[in-house]
Parts: sequence; C-alpha cells; structure tokens
Amino acid sequence: MSKCMPNRICSAMDTAAEADTAPLHRVDATGQAHGRWGRIGICLLTICLVLVLAVRRPALPPPRKVPSRPLSGGGSIPALLMGGDDFSEWFEAAGSGAAIQTFYSYGNGPHIAPQLRRFGRSNVFVSTGIPCGCCGADSPSVEPMNASLAMSYIDRELAELQTGYADLLLFHHRCRTESETASVWEAFEAAKRQGKARHLGVSNFNAHDLEVLSSTAVEPIEVLEAHFGVGMMDWEVLGYARAHGIHPVAFASLSEAHTDHPTLQRAVSRVATAHGVTATQAMYAYLLQRNLSVISSCFHPEDPQKCARYYSFDLAALDVSLSAAELEVLDGVTAGRRTCTDCYTDECQRCAATLHALGCPLGVNGWGTTWWSVGDNFTEHPAWGRGNENGTRCMACAAVPSHRAEVERACGRADRGESLETMVPKACGV
Ligand SMILES: *[C@@H]1O[C@H](CO)[C@@H](O)[C@H](O)[C@H]1NC(C)=O
Ligand SMILES: *[C@@H]1O[C@H](CO)[C@@H](O)[C@H](O)[C@H]1NC(C)=O
Ligand SMILES: *[C@@H]1O[C@H](CO)[C@@H](O)[C@H](O)[C@H]1NC(C)=O
Ligand SMILES: *[C@@H]1O[C@H](CO)[C@@H](O)[C@H](O)[C@H]1NC(C)=O
Repeated sequence: MSKCMPNRICSAMDTAAEADTAPLHRVDATGQAHGRWGRIGICLLTICLVLVLAVRRPALPPPRKVPSRPLSGGGSIPALLMGGDDFSEWFEAAGSGAAIQTFYSYGNGPHIAPQLRRFGRSNVFVSTGIPCGCCGADSPSVEPMNASLAMSYIDRELAELQTGYADLLLFHHRCRTESETASVWEAFEAAKRQGKARHLGVSNFNAHDLEVLSSTAVEPIEVLEAHFGVGMMDWEVLGYARAHGIHPVAFASLSEAHTDHPTLQRAVSRVATAHGVTATQAMYAYLLQRNLSVISSCFHPEDPQKCARYYSFDLAALDVSLSAAELEVLDGVTAGRRTCTDCYTDECQRCAATLHALGCPLGVNGWGTTWWSVGDNFTEHPAWGRGNENGTRCMACAAVPSHRAEVERACGRADRGESLETMVPKACGV
C-alpha cells in the first residue's frame, strides 16, 4: 500500500488513530429547578456548561492567507498548494481554505484523514487523483482502465481519506490509450454529478492530450497539473489552457535548479538578489505571476518546525512582484520546445532505456542509486525524468552522431504531441 515510489519523497507513516476533535454539543437545560438546591444545581450546570463550551469549542481556523484563482466550472483553487504527509503546520500557516495535494498511489489517505478531521474538512481544499497509464504504483493494477475501475479507485481514495468528496479530482497521468482516457473521464463526470468531486482536472497532459479529451468531455476540464517551472515551460499547452479556461498548476517546479541547465542559475540568482529573496521564492513568484498555481511540499516528520519555516518562505513568495522584464528573462530560460508530460509514459521510459544502454547519464533517483542498476527493468525502475545533474550532458550524449539513428528510433516517434525534441530532455531529466 505505502510502497515507496520515486514519484515522491517517502517518509515513515504513523497511521495510529489520533484523537478526534469532538463536535461542540449544545447542552439543552430543560429541567425545572426548585428551591435552594435547585438554584445551586442550575448554578453548577451553568458553570459546567461554560467550562464545557470553553474547553470543547474547536479553535476557529486561522483566516485564509492564500489568494484563489477562478476555475471555469465555478468556484476557485488556491494559488499555493502543499504536498506531503503531515499538514498541521501547513493548515496553521495557510489558514482557512489551505490546499493539499495527494494521489491514490501515495497510499497516505489513512494518515491524512485524521488531520482533515481535526482542522475541519470544509476548511481544506483537497486535491487528489487516481492511477492511469505508466508506471509502477502510478499505474492501475488492472488494465485496460474503464469507467467502473476508475470509479472504484475514486471510491477507495475517498474512503481512505474518510471524506465524501474531493475538491479537485485528477488523472495522475494520461492513460495508455485515448479511449481509456475518455472512459476514465466519464467516471469523473459521474463522480461530479454524484457530489464526489467538486472540480475535475488532469495531470501531465500535453496540448494534444487535452485536445483529444476535449472532443469527448462534457464537463469542463478545469485544471491541468504538470511539471512547470523556470526552464520547464510548455508554452503550447499554456496557450491551449488559457484559450480553454483550464487553470495550470505546477509541481516539482524546483527540479531544474538541480540540473546542469546552462542558463538557469544565473538568471534566477539575478532576479532573487534584486528582490532580496531566495532562489526558490523567485522561481515560485515567476509561476504565480504567470498565473499558475504552485504545489510545494515538505517531508520532515521528525521536525515539524522545519516545515513551518519552509511554509512561511513559500507564502512569502506570494508577495514578491517581478517586473515584466524579469518575467521575460525567466521565460527565456526555457530553451527549445518542451512538453509538460513527465517521463511517466511508456514512450519516455523506452527512450530513457535506450539512452541508458548508450551510456548517456540519466541521473540518480531519490535514494541516491543509479537508475537501471537493478536488472535494467524499466517497468519496475522507471526513469525519474527530472533533476538530473548531468541532464545537459545526457542530451549531448543523445546527439552524438553515432547514437543518432538509435536515439531517433527510440525517442523520435512523432505522435501523441511528442517528438524527438521534447522526448530527449524529458528522458534526460533536464
Ligand atoms: C472494466 O474492467 C474490469 C476489470 O478488467 C472488468 O471486470 C469490467 O467488466 C470492465 N467493465 C466494462 C464496462 O468493460
Ligand atoms: C494573469 O491574470 C490576470 C488577471 O486575470 C491578467 O490580467 C494577466 O494578463 C494574466 N497574466 C498572464 C501572464 O497570463
Ligand atoms: C554526473 O557525472 C559525473 C562525471 O561523470 C559523475 O561523477 C556523477 O556521479 C554524475 N552524477 C550522476 C547523478 O549521475
Ligand atoms: C521486470 O518486471 C516485470 C513486471 O514486474 C517482471 O515480470 C519481470 O520478471 C521483470 N524482469 C526482470 C529482468 O527483472
């Protein structure tokens, strides 16, 4: 269930039942009081009532601190969302309407459920999603996917989170085929009609995927969550999203800072220095000002105050105001055509397997071991596809003339909105 996948940082989970916050009971004193003992009784009852109210009244959630962005189906989504397992400090920092991101494959629903109950379900914007397509735990256990399988995933995830609805329901990835994607979307629409989801969206779809799904979708696709960041802007999908009222949400937006990207460090540090903020804040501010929502995350169960400090830094990024010229400089860090689909597709994994076989450096995964080191089994050991400190070198390796023919065969399939130009950097993780 809580299998540790490289799509997230894993942490020890403590699923022990946690004390619930009892709802405030209204005490109805209806008894007729007589005489002195009666009056003392009423007096004691009143004192008791006051004590009960004082002790049991759940603290009101702190006021909202994150602005919202409108969604095309009505309602809104916060500009900043948080990933992780332990959200108490985030709820405290972000206030009412605090948004969190999880997915079915993370297996952390039972751990999050009591946290939602304590803060008050209606005070949290919960975004979650179900498996489809590639790879590992992000993949459904039975394929092909269909609407009833999708609905069973939705029901299981809601049951694990112990909630009746998700504020936002997403695909984790596009499905392996377009017809599966269309069927899963039908389940999403049914879930919305049944009140199980307030908003519907997708993750890791490129413009082609959005266009194909739009041809059968009845309910609006309200959100596209994907790997956007400085150096990772898929201008095509952002244009499509703007034209069709789809709100973009960015995840893993700092990954490019951990690569050997040739221009990112210099561009970001100049902007950060000019505003007296950190590189992270400058990178988040860029996305926020380009009208994307941003997902940050924190995993420090051993030191919650560490996360609390990160949260205050993240929130401060909302107050950074970059000039039009600075935004343009940061736009320029994205070189060449990028698509926001991450490397969790069969096509990208195939491309990565070939690059690895050619000796191109694919980087390390979250545990510091080299990819492909165990049996070269790309089903079980998918390419991470981001944050590769040798990513630019990996691309140069792919472009070596003697590699060219093989790389084109493995990575150059020009379909589903991808091409050699978009696939190689994705597989190289830069
Ligand atoms: C959906 O898939 C499941 C599992 O393979 C299968 O049992 C079920 O019949 C399928 N439903 C439809 C409508 O095809
Ligand atoms: C962001 O949204 C605001 C308000 O809707 C709009 O005026 C502005 O042009 C948008 N900026 C970008 C970069 O899309
Ligand atoms: C990057 O390349 C250098 C030099 O070949 C190597 O020492 C290092 O381990 C590589 N890093 C990764 C993450 O593979
Ligand atoms: C690769 O993974 C598949 C699916 O899990 C498994 O059946 C197969 O035996 C694995 N192959 C190797 C060489 O480990």
